[in-house]
Amino acid sequence: MDLYHKDVVSIMDFSKDDIEGILDMAEKMVPYARGEKIKRTLDGKILGNLFFEPSTRTKLSFESAAYRLGCNVIDVSEMSMTSMAKGETLADTIKIVDAYCDATVLRHPFEGAARLAAKFSDHPVINAGDGAGSHPTQTLLDLFTMRQAKGSLNGLNITLVGDLKYGRTVHSLAQALTKFGMKITLVAPESLMMPKDIVDHLSSNGCHPRIMTDLEDAVSDTDVLYVTRIQRERFPDPNEYLKVAGTYRVDKALLENARSDLIVMHPLPRVNEIAPEVDSTPHAKYFQQAANGVPVRMALLNALMGGEL
Ligand code: CP
Repeated sequence: MDLYHKDVVSIMDFSKDDIEGILDMAEKMVPYARGEKIKRTLDGKILGNLFFEPSTRTKLSFESAAYRLGCNVIDVSEMSMTSMAKGETLADTIKIVDAYCDATVLRHPFEGAARLAAKFSDHPVINAGDGAGSHPTQTLLDLFTMRQAKGSLNGLNITLVGDLKYGRTVHSLAQALTKFGMKITLVAPESLMMPKDIVDHLSSNGCHPRIMTDLEDAVSDTDVLYVTRIQRERFPDPNEYLKVAGTYRVDKALLENARSDLIVMHPLPRVNEIAPEVDSTPHAKYFQQAANGVPVRMALLNALMGGEL
């Protein structure tokens, strides 16, 4: 695996071997991510963290990952605090940040923003979520969490439920799953079903997803239940949001019909789609999933920025 200086715009930028290489390295990073051991492989490097949409997990776990490796971080969290507020383009902003940093992490409300940023940057650009587009580093930690819980990714039955239309995490994840021969069920209201181009991509890669609207029907033969929030902020019309808000809720009653080793995942934040009573069950993996963001992003930063292990 040689990822030195690579951009991470889409999960499709990685081969299966690349992904497995990052997950293997992330496993080695766990004690360093927890602060039990010290590793300063990126000492003296600088990461630029540009977050032009709200974030808790992605922003802070990238920061934590960088600091754990000895890498410094400079960051901006609001477009209004940059010279874009004076009319500077994203392209010019990225060229400037690129001159100050060894890699740039970008979260942006517009689909395609990371691809554009990569074009104007000499150093690696990492897509930390571009509108309703994709979120490739979330997929890496999702796969890490599944492998950690299940031992292997191959052949698992996974159900993706919720906002599959606007959900960038499930767009990236679905694309990655085809590389591991997983069987996919898509559960969403008709108005929030997975975009056709992604369903076509799954089918053309030999993974013909089961498409359903009823979650109860899907749960009984599922190994991984991947729940997403119905995202109010992505709806052009608030009335359309109200029609589908609260469609799905994972609670103990639903899980009574599930396999005993089913795991529940969620990229978070959640609103009400997973009842808090699920948190204390052995099914719940979503907080571990969020914690896994640090070792996985350490592995990624180390590989992109040329840290010696
Ligand atoms: N999963 C995720 O992207 O969370 P944040 O929006 O808090 O970064």
